[in-house]
Amino acid sequence: MSTLLSRISSREITVGVIGLGYVGLPLATAFADAGYHVIGFEIDEQKVRELKAGRSYIPDVPATDVARLVSSGHLTGTTDFSLLSSCDAISVCVPTPLGKSRDPDISYIVEATNRIVKHLRSGQVIVLESTTYPGTTIEVVKPALEAAGLTMGIDVFLSFSPERIDPGNPVYNVRNTPKIVGGVTPLCTELAVALYSAIVDRVLPVSSPTAAEMVKLLENTFRAVNIGLVNEVAIIAEKLGLDVWEIIEAAKSKPFGFMPFYPGPGLGGHCIPIDPQYLSWKLRMMNYRTRFIELADDINSHMPEQVVDRVAMALNNIGEPKPMRGTKLLVLGVAYKRDIDDWRESPAIPVILGLLSRGAVVDYQDDFVPKIDLAHGGDVPQPMYSVPLDYAAMSRYDAVVVVTDHQYFNVGLVLEHARRLVDTRNLTGTIGRGHPRVVKL
Ligand SMILES: NC(=O)c1ccc[n+]([C@@H]2O[C@H](COP(=O)([O-])OP(=O)(O)OC[C@H]3O[C@@H](n4cnc5c(N)ncnc54)[C@H](O)[C@@H]3O)[C@@H](O)[C@H]2O)c1
Repeated sequence: MSTLLSRISSREITVGVIGLGYVGLPLATAFADAGYHVIGFEIDEQKVRELKAGRSYIPDVPATDVARLVSSGHLTGTTDFSLLSSCDAISVCVPTPLGKSRDPDISYIVEATNRIVKHLRSGQVIVLESTTYPGTTIEVVKPALEAAGLTMGIDVFLSFSPERIDPGNPVYNVRNTPKIVGGVTPLCTELAVALYSAIVDRVLPVSSPTAAEMVKLLENTFRAVNIGLVNEVAIIAEKLGLDVWEIIEAAKSKPFGFMPFYPGPGLGGHCIPIDPQYLSWKLRMMNYRTRFIELADDINSHMPEQVVDRVAMALNNIGEPKPMRGTKLLVLGVAYKRDIDDWRESPAIPVILGLLSRGAVVDYQDDFVPKIDLAHGGDVPQPMYSVPLDYAAMSRYDAVVVVTDHQYFNVGLVLEHARRLVDTRNLTGTIGRGHPRVVKL
């Protein structure tokens, strides 16, 4: 195996990345940037066309990097999975959503594994990066690879290494976010550590793929539970007539034993609302109820209703009282968090649906997300398109509702023109506290 190790460190190997989305494209460009020959495998032909043309479709990946790496021949994309046999290392970055009954849907992992198995050959390093429940690598991927007749840790080398990327984060990227690796055998771990050490400053081995899977779920369950706690504190603060943001700001002055989390209109994105459900499901299968996860999920998933209630409160209490039915509302921001274009699982969707169901007429403004599909049927408008950013026109709405605090929003101008402002993200900061036209979460 010393030859494979030395070929990894001398950049002689070809790296395959399966799934070129928010996780896969940054990973593929990082490997290509480090000098590897990288092939990205996708089922979405449009993404492959974009990549081959040297264009980026993920905001965190600069178009100039993609153009440079494609034209130098380090990076290419394909829908031809037979090329997997030319890859010495393969990282799997396919989606892991929830099914209709909110159970894990690992069908994309199974499908990607089947494609690998079809073209598997001796000497390949396989790394699953998709977030999943503890046991997936050992119980699902490993047997499928072994069924192809190769011996784990001798012919083929399987590890799990969770992706920890934080889209839109200007400080932490692939390079400076430490990477966890857990291999099926010590040699599997060693090879995956060598591979990722080429693109990540610090790689931390753990004892098994299952431990690595659990690390990722601990991280995101920790966030979901703490956000659940602070969302409940926001409800408590409102009942006590306090500004939750002031309380958190003061509490975080404690240099030890406190870490600030912030309330909001609800969880969003592909990770925090979903990953704890993977853990919860796994434990349900073992007859154990993950109570913290369930409670946090209950509180977090009801936050959009809290927002709708605060809008009703603003219409009631600010200026001439107005019923929700027939009011014109403008939602600012529909991405699940600031300065990104991803609106998957965004709380903006249940907020808008909640407002529409109470009879309001809703527009939204988000330069990052020109179009959303509420996918709800009935007489709900779909798709919806972002209205242009026009601060003066905000005075034509009965209320403006901040759901995502993109940095391009000029809070002074919003405050100047909004007749009523519901601020779920503390966009207005201390100015909003006690302001006669502002209701804060
Ligand atoms: N987005 C994040 O912030 C983030 C962060 C950490 C971990 N993750 C995890 O990483 C994984 C991927 O997430 P993402 O946000 O990149 O998803 P994504 O939907 O942006 O990208 C996944 C890509 O995989 C492609 N795909 C699906 N099946 C395929 C197959 N069989 N072969 C090839 N391509 C296939 C899809 O077309 C899509 O382009 C998930 O498990 C997610 O939980 C995501």
